[in-house]
Amino acid sequence: MRNNNINTREADEIFYSLREHPEVARMKNYIQHGDINTFQHCEAVVNCGRKLNQVLHIHADEISLIRGGMLHDFYLYDWHIPDKSHKLHGFSHPRQALQNALKYFNLNDREKNIILSHMWPLTVTQIPTSREAWLICLADKYCALRETFHRGRLFEKTGERFNFNA
Ligand SMILES: [Fe+2]
Ligand SMILES: [Fe+2]
Repeated sequence: MRNNNINTREADEIFYSLREHPEVARMKNYIQHGDINTFQHCEAVVNCGRKLNQVLHIHADEISLIRGGMLHDFYLYDWHIPDKSHKLHGFSHPRQALQNALKYFNLNDREKNIILSHMWPLTVTQIPTSREAWLICLADKYCALRETFHRGRLFEKTGERFNFNA
């Protein structure tokens, strides 16, 4: 079991190196909601999950939050373009994201569950089983709503969108 009291700098370094991974960066090529790409969405979900963890004193594992959060939508296609390979995108993309993630990363069971359960309750049988998975499930919904309804209006002045570290 990892130490939950990992310092912020160490967590930030892990987050940074994950974002620098060339396959993870491919998420920048796909729109998620509005004009927000999947990479930006995943970053926002991690930042939101970490902020909730800190503010609510949940003591969730920061590394799992970062890894599970950044890879939760690592499905690597544009879900707006109709294709029979992702007809039921809402239900199937967590499994696709996990399959892609396992090609490049060694994930523990908690991180796998974060990815698989982030669409709960839509995916009825994939239930979040940890504090980390509940945080990402919640953060994902919150960020998706903001991205869908606010689009570019938030944080326009600074050019930063959904920066929960600010
Ligand atoms: Fe998703
Ligand atoms: Fe998401």
